[in-house]
Amino acid sequence: MNILGIETSCDETGVAVYNTETGLLGHSLYSQVILHAEYGGVVPELASRDHIRKLSPLIHEVLEKSSLRLSELDGIAFTRGPGLMGALLVGTSLGCSLAFSLGIPAIGVHHMEGHLLAPMMEKNSPPFPFVALLVSGGHTQLMLARAVGQYEILGQSVDDAVGESFDKTASLLGLGYPGGAALARLAEQGDPDRFTFPRPMTNRPGLDFSFSGLKTFAMNTLRNNTDEPGIKKNIAAAFQKAVVETLVDKCQRALRQTGYQALIVAGGVGANKCLRERLVIEAEKSGTQVFFPSMALCTDNGAMIAYAGALRLSAGQQDDTNLAGRPRWSMEGLTALPQNSG
Ligand code: KG4
Ligand code: ZN
Repeated sequence: MNILGIETSCDETGVAVYNTETGLLGHSLYSQVILHAEYGGVVPELASRDHIRKLSPLIHEVLEKSSLRLSELDGIAFTRGPGLMGALLVGTSLGCSLAFSLGIPAIGVHHMEGHLLAPMMEKNSPPFPFVALLVSGGHTQLMLARAVGQYEILGQSVDDAVGESFDKTASLLGLGYPGGAALARLAEQGDPDRFTFPRPMTNRPGLDFSFSGLKTFAMNTLRNNTDEPGIKKNIAAAFQKAVVETLVDKCQRALRQTGYQALIVAGGVGANKCLRERLVIEAEKSGTQVFFPSMALCTDNGAMIAYAGALRLSAGQQDDTNLAGRPRWSMEGLTALPQNSG
């Protein structure tokens, strides 16, 4: 089956075709970063309008890359939520109308399930059950994943998401928006031990996170040491070290608590090199395994939506073609797939 995947939940228009026998046939991404940069964050109305402009040409581009005609598609998957309502509306409407006009099934995919399943597209893919660390611009969650669609939230951020915390700290260091990757690059040149940032909520039991205090700590550190040479790179390095150690600590706790052997890490912050390196070291120490999507599939993309949709469509699931977007949507309410499907 050839499944077209459409991602328009935030500020990237992503399209891909996933073939259930041969894997990913083609994918393309159009990022709106430049459009929103001057506002220091995503402007929802501009995002929706840009998705409208880019989505249709991107679908044609991906079909051409995949050497497919529209009539050779067997199903359409699109991000139904969570995300910005107007942005979701674009992918949902186009996905549903395309499926309706071609007479093929449509499926609305949960964006974070797309992220969570992305590592399963790799050659060395994790077996269920596993613990998933989902770290994006809007989410920080530790999940227990028993099977496709069977998820339980073990812990989550009580305030800022980890990507949001990277972006806010990057912004106060003058690195623009979204600055997570830029902050990580600057951190490589800094001394991570020049300042000691807190490791929030690691001194008490539980798997929840709190990241909003770190940006305030960064702001005060910058204010109190403005004249120090190399202050920004040292703050970036110390901030990143604190975030990474906090995430690693909670992942290890989650593995111990569940007794599971595998951890998967997904979402934009999963592209962070320091986080990846530390998690690999910890996995080796504890005799567990850690899995990541390829770097290109960590941040938002259409491939993860095509893949998640392909698993559900192959198992016989489909949605009505008059589906509405769901800006807020918990992964715990998803329909489970039988363990042996997909
Ligand atoms: O998953 P994603 O592309 O979009 C959402 O679903 O939110 O994640 C975007 C987030 C942004 O906050 C961005 O700054 C962060 O991921 N990010 C990074 C890195 N690359 C992207 N954060 C830290 N280090 C990176 N290398
Ligand atoms: Zn995402």
